[in-house]
Amino acid sequence: MKTFLRFVSAVAAVWLSALCGSAAAAGDTIKVGILVEMSGTFASFGQQITTGAKAYMKQNGDTVAGKKVELIIRDTTGPAPDVAKRLAQELIVQDEVDFIAGFGLTPNALAVAPIVTEAKKPTIIMNAATSIITTKSPYIARVSFTLPQVTEPMAQWAYKSGLRKVYTAVADYPPGIDAEKTFKNAFTKLGGEIVGEARIPLVNPEFGPFVQRIKDAKPQALFVFVPAGELAVGFMKAYTERGLANAGIKLITTGDVVDDGVINALGDDVLGVISTHHYSVAHDSPENATFLAEYAKINSTQRPNFMAVGGYDGMAAIYEVIRKLNGNIDGDKAMQVLRGMKWTSPRGPILIDADTRDMVQNVYVREAKKVGGKIYNVEFETFPMVKDPGK
Ligand code: DHB
Repeated sequence: MKTFLRFVSAVAAVWLSALCGSAAAAGDTIKVGILVEMSGTFASFGQQITTGAKAYMKQNGDTVAGKKVELIIRDTTGPAPDVAKRLAQELIVQDEVDFIAGFGLTPNALAVAPIVTEAKKPTIIMNAATSIITTKSPYIARVSFTLPQVTEPMAQWAYKSGLRKVYTAVADYPPGIDAEKTFKNAFTKLGGEIVGEARIPLVNPEFGPFVQRIKDAKPQALFVFVPAGELAVGFMKAYTERGLANAGIKLITTGDVVDDGVINALGDDVLGVISTHHYSVAHDSPENATFLAEYAKINSTQRPNFMAVGGYDGMAAIYEVIRKLNGNIDGDKAMQVLRGMKWTSPRGPILIDADTRDMVQNVYVREAKKVGGKIYNVEFETFPMVKDPGK
């Protein structure tokens, strides 16, 4: 019996050393858990973000500070806080990721904030754009934008252009409310008037009746925020079908509604629409040319949009943290590296504000125009290095 026990413990010891060996191998990998919408109405968000992230890795290689970087992509399926929470927990506990990243939609980012705080996991928001997200955890940094950041310049541009009576219409959830409030504050402070406000459901919205009511109110302009992609297409369809452009109601919006990913599907009715945003495919810079070329190597049929740039820049931030920490990722040290990080993105110069962990960046005023037979958001004015106005 004793001999048998000795045999069992010897086998266990071999197993243990094999296990330790594989643990050492796992230590040579940096795992990045990407939580994004890969199915349903918002599937384009996950497609864009992950393609952008992969484009960065294709350009820069997948080894940093001697460690292999691995993406573990998980589908939140849409605005689903409970799914996002469960997946974040699994990524942290089972997959033992070093970073959490992704997040097209605000509700998913807000849901995981307490989890990443508890686990001290450095978390990079690649799109979700409600102002408060970064205040919900000291372990969150954002490389995308905030709705207030791009909306205030829109209100200023609208007033400067002679518009005085504007109707606002937003998706009825946190980034929409941010956009509505910011536009109203900035526009009325200048002397403009808000003649009506509509909040449209995020899930299964019917734009027609809202758009008809707006037409009947006869504002000079309509300011809109709805999430990019399918909702933007749905909104533009209603705007066209109900004849708002012909009624002389000017459309002004954040760049989400004229998202590069779908702008050609919006058709010629989108021509002339003025928007403010942080990224346009038409941005003229060597960094953007490189980004577009790398993106096309992974997906040559889909045009990238601002979410793809968020994915690309998010990986740039993660690579820099890995380099600076020489591959030994610690939550507090990672956040220290992220605070104040500065670089040149495909969108232009960017900075992660050291206090708010939010982007400081140019906001561009653009017009939807045909260039070489395709529709682009052509930048014509720049608000330089804008901060979220509420922070
Ligand atoms: C969100 C913000 C956007 O600007 C967008 O286009 C889609 C989603 C968000 O924060 O949920």
